[in-house]
Amino acid sequence: MNKALRKAVIAGNWKMNKTRPEAAALIAELKPLVADAGCEVVACVPFTNLETVLEAVKGSNIKVGAQNCHFEKSGAFTGEISADMLAEMGVEYVVLGHSERRQYFGETDETVNKRLTAALAAGLKVILCVGEMLADRENGITGELVALQTKIALKGVSKEDLKNVIIAYEPVWAIGTGKTATAEQANEVCAIIRGVIASIYDQEAADGITIQYGGSMNAKNAAELVAQPDVDGGLIGGASLKAVDFSVIVKAATEG
Ligand code: 13P
Repeated sequence: MNKALRKAVIAGNWKMNKTRPEAAALIAELKPLVADAGCEVVACVPFTNLETVLEAVKGSNIKVGAQNCHFEKSGAFTGEISADMLAEMGVEYVVLGHSERRQYFGETDETVNKRLTAALAAGLKVILCVGEMLADRENGITGELVALQTKIALKGVSKEDLKNVIIAYEPVWAIGTGKTATAEQANEVCAIIRGVIASIYDQEAADGITIQYGGSMNAKNAAELVAQPDVDGGLIGGASLKAVDFSVIVKAATEG
């Protein structure tokens, strides 16, 4: 498998952070720092910041993403945002199936699959999150669990549409905890996911898909993680809120 065939993607998941002025300031600080990035750079921001950030990134290499979308095109779904609404704005990416959505908002593998197919139909690129809880790892079922999550999320997705899907392996025990998976642990699970893609589609699809690691990735540990053969970048929470830290991660991915 040739890592050079794949595009590394460093995506910031801002989660529920930043007002509009704060968002504009962060992008303004980030733009020159990542201008010569050799990887894709994405900022996944709260819905309320999308318009501001789309304007702020103009003329730069930073792409914009949302953090969720609903599976219906429109209708009586109070508080939800459709994939078409995001696409119409010029949003390029959407994070789906994040563990915080699964844990706190009742997201299941089936609803992730519905959201994912709706997002692809709207022309969005999807960052699909999978990952195990600490108990799953201790029970030795990490591989089976992420395989299941991946298979269900991709149900009905063609090989052609898979080109618009990135998978982020995010062990839940490593998110916001300061506990990073070791580079070997991250690579092992990313490789398992790649094997799942090969089994559902074929080796070409597996070789081409970008698989990120996420979970307490920061300026210090990024280089080792992104240098792993099956780790094609990262989905960054806390460290994406600091322009300098995020740019160091982008630099690591450019070199890694
Ligand atoms: P942290 O980088 O804050 O651990 O968050 C990771 C994450 O959940 C990105 O989606």
